[in-house]
Order: sequence, then C-alpha cells, then structure tokens
Amino acid sequence: MFFENCKILTREKGNIAYLPYKKQLVELEDKIVSKITNKEDLSEFNKKLENLSDVKFEFCDEVKSLTLMLATKCNLKCTYCYADEGTYGESEELMDEITAINSVKKILSQHPSVELIRFFGGEPLLNFKVLKKVCEYVENYFSNKNIKFAVGTNGTILDGKIINLLKKYDIKVLISLDGPKELHDSNRIDKQGLGSHSKILKNLEMLKAEDIQFSLQCTYTKQHQKIKLHDLSSYLKQFTSTIAIAPCRLPTGVVEIKDEFDNFTRSLESLFTDQPVFLADVMHHISSILYKNNINHFCDANRRIVVFPNGDVYPCELLKFEKFYMGNVNRNDFDISGYKNIQEILSTFNRKDRLEDYWFKYLIPSICISNHINDAIQKDSKIKLTEKVVNLNDMYFTHVLIRLYKAKTNNEWDTLIENIKYYNKMIDLK
Ligand SMILES: C[S@@+](CC[C@H](N)C(=O)[O-])C[C@H]1O[C@@H](n2cnc3c(N)ncnc32)[C@H](O)[C@@H]1O
Ligand code: SF4
Repeated sequence: MFFENCKILTREKGNIAYLPYKKQLVELEDKIVSKITNKEDLSEFNKKLENLSDVKFEFCDEVKSLTLMLATKCNLKCTYCYADEGTYGESEELMDEITAINSVKKILSQHPSVELIRFFGGEPLLNFKVLKKVCEYVENYFSNKNIKFAVGTNGTILDGKIINLLKKYDIKVLISLDGPKELHDSNRIDKQGLGSHSKILKNLEMLKAEDIQFSLQCTYTKQHQKIKLHDLSSYLKQFTSTIAIAPCRLPTGVVEIKDEFDNFTRSLESLFTDQPVFLADVMHHISSILYKNNINHFCDANRRIVVFPNGDVYPCELLKFEKFYMGNVNRNDFDISGYKNIQEILSTFNRKDRLEDYWFKYLIPSICISNHINDAIQKDSKIKLTEKVVNLNDMYFTHVLIRLYKAKTNNEWDTLIENIKYYNKMIDLK
C-alpha cells in the first residue's frame, strides 16, 4: 500500500524515492527498488512503514470568499484574455447596486464563514460607484465580521476618489503588469490597440505617493522569453516586493514545455540564494511538498461563491455552466439548498482522488477544473489530465524533490526556508 505509485526519483548516491501515501522522501535499499521495479510483493516492507502516521486528506467546503463580478466589460482587450475582454463570452454589463447589496446580504448571512469580498471582472474599477456602496454596506451591517476586501484590476483606472476608498477600507490591490513597456504593451492593449503601460506606471506612482500597498501579477507569455527571468523579476520588484509571475494559459501565449521547465528550474535555484525569483508555479509546488498539502480539492471552487452582474450565482467565474448554476440573488430561487446541490456535484469530482493514478496526484497544488469538466462529470470515470500537464508535473515534482533532498545535505536549507517564509508572508499563504 505505502509503495503504491512510489516514484524512484534518482539512483545516484543511493535510491531516493517519493511515497505518495506518506508524502515522504525516503532512501530505499536496492532490494526494495528491485522489488518495486519488478512489481513483486512488498508487504514485508509495508509493515515497517505502518507505524508512521498516514497523511489524511481533507475535504473542506466552508465558503471563504465572495467574488462580485462588478463589470463583465473592460477598457482593455488583452490579446490573451481568457475572459474574452472581460465579458466571459456574454454581453457587456455592470452590476447594479441592488444586485451587489442583495449578494452581500444573502451570502454573508447564509455563509458566516466568508472572510473576503473580492471585486473582479472584466475591469471592476469601471464600476467604482457600486464597489464603494458595497464597502459602505458591509461597514454598516456586517461590521462585527471583520470582512476583508480585495480588487483585481488592470491598473489603468485610478483617481483621487478611488485611492481614498482603497485607503479607507484597506482594500488589497492586485494590479496586472507584464513587465517593461515593450513586453507589457505587446499584449495589454486598449480598444484602439494602444499599450497600457504608461498609464499604469503613472498610477503606481500615485499609489506609492499615498502609501497604498499593492501586488503585481505578471502573465508570462511567449514574448517574455526575450528577457531573462531574473531581469523580469527585478523590473517588477522596483515597484513592490509582492509580485507573482504566472504562465499564460491560452494556447497562443503558452511557452514551450522546455522553456517553462527552464524557468521553473531557474526560479527554484534562485530560492537557495539571496536573490530569489518567485515564480507562482514553483512556490505552489514547493509549498505543496513542504507543508504536506492535505487538501483533496483540485481548486477552491467549493470554497468560493461568485455573483455575475445579473445576479446569477456560480462557484467560480470559469464554471459558468448550467450544471453549476446556484440561483439568482435577486430572485427567491437563491438559497442554501441551491448551493448545497452544487456543492454535492462539486464534491463528486473536485477531488484529487478521482485522478488517474499519477504518482504526484496528491501533490498537485491546484488545477483549473473547468478544463476537465467533461471527464470529471462522468461519475465513475477517472479524471485524465492533458499530456502537457502530466509531463510538466512529473518534471516539476521530480526536480523539486531531488533538489530539496540535496539541499538538506548541502547546508542550503536555511536560505530556502527564509525565502519561502518571506514569500508566504508576502502573499498571506501561511
Ligand atoms: C481576467 S483578469 C481580470 C482583472 C483585471 N481586468 C486584470 O486584468 O487584472 C485577471 C488576471 O488574469 C490574467 N489572465 C488573463 N488571461 C489569462 C490567460 N489566458 N492565462 C493566464 N492568465 C490570464 C490577467 O493578466 C490578469 O492578471
Ligand atoms: S484587462 Fe483583464 S479583463 Fe480586461 S482584457 Fe485584460 S486581462 Fe481581460
């Protein structure tokens, strides 16, 4: 049992293996490795491992956040936008005040576990008026709950009024900036085709002058291969220490698997130095190993609720399918039972244990299930990942596990842990 899906990572300097059911790196004797390779009986060795405690996989479905899609429209038309210029494939809309207040009132009352209201879109700051009303409403009617706010914005729309509100409600600000002007402007353009970089830089100056903290999110595309990862990271870090570089997931922007892996290994190596480059993928993979991520979810669809401008409720902005419709906050059909039905559907397939037997299946930090819906919805079938996702994760985890093992013996551990702690503090992960 413990050796099921066991992965022999390397046979240099002893056999280093990973045991998925224990989430443990172990050194194995040659005779065990040969038994594993020949698929022989391992019960004798399994017994030895029995007294070491097993990892329990948790399934959490307490709702933690409410996302208000304040605008399914945008002033930009980024070439790679998965949200189709912010519309999610439908008509352009702004959420009205009644819908926003109904959402907060109903969802916060039905789900006292909600801690965060996220303003999202499209471009949520196109609907600043309603954003402000929501903050005021929460302040007046839910002041005992210590609800936090966050906004994900393209950073092109900022003025004195917005800045004052960000400050007043201590709203966490996440701005998309893809790097130096030429790179950023090659994808993040307005409706006339003009780059948005200069506007954003001016706005970042405004935020800094007002001492408002913000994070930057860079979407890494093919164009980014022109610049060294370290230089990209340094460029972004001149504005704030809180940066995340995440790969573009649209086929046209996706970099080759080899280049993605190169970036991954470079970023990983930098974590053993005092010049860390934090790549979101690396940090997720490494945290998943070090903190023995025991969550059985692919993603946090069970833990969030998303309301679209017309009041329709879904578990995620990317699961906007009839099957996941939870009701409408402006009608009486939205209640906890609608939510429970969807939770039940989600709980049958938003689970890593439904995956094919990949050795890293319980390690996978997060996968967007919207890409795997068809597989997953067939109740009894196993969920298959795409070949690219399987190959990348196999390479990532093999590499990280070996590197961590080496770091343990090379006195590099402390630097790594310092860097990870710094990153986690930065993004409130741990
Ligand atoms: C959909 S936007 C919505 C918020 C806001 N309009 C913005 O751009 O920040 C949220 C984030 O998703 C990123 N994004 C858009 N399309 C993407 C894709 N195909 N792959 C990865 N990230 C993408 C954007 O760069 C942005 O950082
Ligand atoms: S600014 Fe955001 S929502 Fe608008 S097109 Fe770009 S990525 Fe999409």
